[in-house]
Amino acid sequence: MFIDSFKVESPNVCYTDNEIHSVYRYETTELVHEARNGTYQWIVKPKTVKYEFRTQTQVPKLGVMLVGWGGNNGSTLTGGVIANREGISWATKDKVQRANYFGSLTQASSIRVGSFNGEEIYAPFKSLLPMVNPDEIVFGGWDISDFNLADAMTRARVFDIDLQKQLRPYMESMVPLPGIFNPDFIAANQGARANNVIKGTKKEQVEQVIKDIREFKEKNQVDRVVVLWTANTERYSSVTVGINDTMENLLASLEKDEAEISPSTMYAIACVMENIPFINGSPQNTFVPGLIDMAIRKNSLIGGDDFKSGQTKMKSVLVDFLVGAGIKPTSIVSYNHLGNNDGMNLSAPQTFRSKEISKSNVVDDMVSSNGILYEPGEHPDHVVVIKYVPYVGDSKRAMDEYVSEIFMGGKNTIVLHNTCEDSLLAAPIILDLVLLAELSTRIQFKAETEGKFHSFHPVATILSYLSKAPLVPPGTPVVNALAKQRAMLENIMRACVGLAPENNMILEYK
Ligand code: NAI
Repeated sequence: MFIDSFKVESPNVCYTDNEIHSVYRYETTELVHEARNGTYQWIVKPKTVKYEFRTQTQVPKLGVMLVGWGGNNGSTLTGGVIANREGISWATKDKVQRANYFGSLTQASSIRVGSFNGEEIYAPFKSLLPMVNPDEIVFGGWDISDFNLADAMTRARVFDIDLQKQLRPYMESMVPLPGIFNPDFIAANQGARANNVIKGTKKEQVEQVIKDIREFKEKNQVDRVVVLWTANTERYSSVTVGINDTMENLLASLEKDEAEISPSTMYAIACVMENIPFINGSPQNTFVPGLIDMAIRKNSLIGGDDFKSGQTKMKSVLVDFLVGAGIKPTSIVSYNHLGNNDGMNLSAPQTFRSKEISKSNVVDDMVSSNGILYEPGEHPDHVVVIKYVPYVGDSKRAMDEYVSEIFMGGKNTIVLHNTCEDSLLAAPIILDLVLLAELSTRIQFKAETEGKFHSFHPVATILSYLSKAPLVPPGTPVVNALAKQRAMLENIMRACVGLAPENNMILEYK
């Protein structure tokens, strides 16, 4: 059975006018490796830590500024939200299609709440905590191309023509602000669309972005803004001591107009300075150590990297399943071809390299979790190929071959072929990223050993379900397995309303 909403009644939870306060017992383990009777042993000690969570329930009016607003993802997301808000339906060759948010974890997935009369009861994921309604988001942003959003939608060739016609009147007046353009960081083939750029030194460009954010906030009367990079994939910037390794050096480099500071890092600097959450949806190392240092010291949320939309999402499910089943993946080969502007940009070796790096570490945590299958340091062969094929447009093809070793030396080969509009996968993920980033800024918590409530670490690991290469604070484990990432997010949200983590034991029926 499916219910729309619920309220938790417990001595551990208190709902006030403006917050939900919960007391939560976190069951975890502590490990020690010590000598007992002359031999070293691992001792595991179950441990309970009392936490308190406070979630502000007042949902702000949210503005979302996209860097690369006029790209395929930017125009698809904007059009998709307008279509939902306006209740638009359109004729396809198959049927009359209604707008929806399929593919969004927050808007279209559900959670199990419990059992009632022998039946499992589910509710929308978004019913766990008060969240911004996506229909009410105000969109804005920057693009180095001056196409208005209606023309950008036509250029993207993602939506059906009947839908485009209905959306055009809403989108014609939406025009991206000029963006920070540096041809050194993206493919040379992008130069032709760069007709809408901010002039001046790097410092002046960052100041302009700050001004843009303030004006957007003022003009649209929004309470909070989240900025998200969905612009072209950049090449990696080199990380150099004295240039971008600390906050001071990064800011000094900005003053000196240092060549190696990328546009994406510059937008991120502007956001951290303004305490605006900044999310990176592309693979490059926007978050150089100096930027991470700055975000931590200013306690300003940063999250990324690279949307986990198609092939990698599948990989982080399939390899988790195989390794979890005691099967040993030994070779993973992934081919992609796509014909959109992202594909054209990725056809340059430097930008492709960023994508290759971001796609390559995705199975590491699963491999290292099973020392029966893999020797220390052993790793499956893992190769990623991306080719630009204009004809297929945004409809990306991803082909994967997984070869695994099974019982008694047998081999098992799984081949996948995935065809899908890339932007229709990415747009709901962008939505989740901004909604969850906003939500996480309304949550404060403390362990029993801590005196004061504090927010989550500014490096937002809570967003890792949506990221191909999750950014984590220094010294923190990276989790790529999709089910674990989802459980982490759901269970933290459950903790905020005093619900136990979903343990799937269903003891009531045993
Ligand atoms: P796109 O090429 O259609 O859009 C990018 C937009 O950014 C373009 O309109 C371009 O003019 C603009 N741009 C480039 N540099 C800029 C700058 N410095 N400032 C402002 N605007 C700038 O690409 P698409 O398909 O929308 O993808 C966007 C990004 O998302 C790419 O980096 C892609 O790798 C990444 N991504 C996409 C996924 C998907 O499924 N669509 C999945 C994972 C990542």
